Amino acid sequence: MCSIIGYLGISSAAPIIVKGLKRMEYRGYDSVGVATFSKDHINVRKGVGKVLEVNKTVKLDELSGTIGIGHTRWATHGMVTDINAHPHPSSSGEVAIVHNGIIENHEGLKKELQEKGYTFKSQTDSEVIANLLQYNYDKTKDIKKSIIDTVSQLKGNYAFVAVFQDGTLGAARNHEPLIIGVGKDGYFISSDVLGFVEYTDDVIYPDNREFVIIDTSGLKIFDFEANPVRHQIIKVSKEFADSYKGEFAHFTLKEISEQPTTILSAGNSTQLEMDLASDLIRHAKNLYITGSGTSYNAALIAKFLFSKYAKIKIDPLISSEARFSHDVFEENSILIAISQSGESADVLEAVSIASKAGSKIISIVNMMTSSLVHQSAISIGVNCGPEIGVAATKSFTSQLVVLYKLVDKLCNGCLELDFTKVSEAIKKILSNDSKIRDVARLLKDVPDIYVLGRGIHYPIASEGSLKLKELTYIHAEGLPGGELKHGPLALMDSDSFVLIINPNDSTYNDTLMSAKQIKARGARVIGISDIPSDVYDYWIDIPSIGESLYPLLEIIPIQLLAYYAAIEKDTDPDYPRNLAKSVTVK
Ligand code: F6R
Repeated sequence: MCSIIGYLGISSAAPIIVKGLKRMEYRGYDSVGVATFSKDHINVRKGVGKVLEVNKTVKLDELSGTIGIGHTRWATHGMVTDINAHPHPSSSGEVAIVHNGIIENHEGLKKELQEKGYTFKSQTDSEVIANLLQYNYDKTKDIKKSIIDTVSQLKGNYAFVAVFQDGTLGAARNHEPLIIGVGKDGYFISSDVLGFVEYTDDVIYPDNREFVIIDTSGLKIFDFEANPVRHQIIKVSKEFADSYKGEFAHFTLKEISEQPTTILSAGNSTQLEMDLASDLIRHAKNLYITGSGTSYNAALIAKFLFSKYAKIKIDPLISSEARFSHDVFEENSILIAISQSGESADVLEAVSIASKAGSKIISIVNMMTSSLVHQSAISIGVNCGPEIGVAATKSFTSQLVVLYKLVDKLCNGCLELDFTKVSEAIKKILSNDSKIRDVARLLKDVPDIYVLGRGIHYPIASEGSLKLKELTYIHAEGLPGGELKHGPLALMDSDSFVLIINPNDSTYNDTLMSAKQIKARGARVIGISDIPSDVYDYWIDIPSIGESLYPLLEIIPIQLLAYYAAIEKDTDPDYPRNLAKSVTVK
């Protein structure tokens, strides 16, 4: 949701912090701020906008000092304003904090602190952490005690970094990510390795309910009960550093274009995990699969693959609905959780509900250092590298590849998977995008787009409509073809645009029939198919492939269409309004 970062070392802190925030901007980007400690003072600069815009106006990176903290925000409590941007100083200005997460009891705490004379400027829940730390420090004059007292009073999921009046950094973690980087010239604390990986690949992962104190004498970690804690330093993969746009105008286009390679690396080197997972699945009483957004659409595809090829029933469940789905999970059942980030609060909640009921968790994750991995019996890495564009693209196809491989194992190789052929077919679609650009131009001013598919192509219609919504802000809806006559046909007229997903498989004739019904109402029909037809006003050609593998091809032109339509509409495809890549709040 938000990104937090802290640095204490021998270099100038502000430029390091600004660079780290830029790299973590995918986590939230409505406002940004930095505070540094210099000459016995904490100085704060912040503003509304993206990192580089705000930096241009308020010169975040020119703050002096070798100790500092920084933040990019995705608003949850309080509007997007300069005052609500982080860092938040305490009322005396002797402590400042940056925070990610939600403080559930902030209203009560704020009232108590106001009664004690502490003042508040913002509408955020976060400011209460600054004044609470200040209050506890004023009482004890001890930074460690002030953090322990503070975390014992806070309720909710959070991670924060604080800079104190003597230049000490304090940070705490409760169900939100917090990672320490141990560099030659200094320490880093950040929501994501991307915040500091260009300076060091030596990292420490504090657990939940632990806090960190960093000063010029070094680094100490404690649990919330004040016991010292030791953690190993782990080397993270240098691939995290490879998060530049290179020759591409946007991360989103780069990530769409990487798919011929990423589908080949998906689920590689996970033989052992695949074996263990398929064994657990074969012996499970019941099988469930969950995810949010794009990852949930991958779960819907899994339902078709599991039942058709492995003859195993699997129930998909939207993660955010888990807490309202009473008594779904039970002992000896398995929940497969799919997540790119491994940090989505909704997914983690579904996992926690299932675990408490005695179900085992198998996760399919891109970020193998995430909370989801820690909460799973088995984790299978999708291995597509960092995905920075807020809209999930390459992670989706890589999740699908892992699911294909798992199902293939369960049906003893019945899928005859040939991902080299898929990779070549995707290359062909990517290299032939002029028709897609033409269609994108037409979409610029349309109010609604419908995406239609039957069977296994319906989840792709849902995923395609999600991409169009996110990137173009055009209302888009995925429709199962057969449902047209039960309602949606009433919407079709000459202003309607309908994308028809119609590969040459068992759904072909029925879907063509739906296309004809739509066309008869005057709507414009864009066919995504390996077979041309007069029904289509525009035909986007995809190569033919084995029946089960079409989903991996047909999503690519829709991703490109959403991207190019965003360019036509002059929206920012990497950072759609109101969204964040990693949704760590419920
Ligand atoms: C859509 C998108 C989101 C995510 C969702 C789950 O393009 O990116 O819908 O798919 O927030 O995120 P993860 O997979 O990280 O749990």
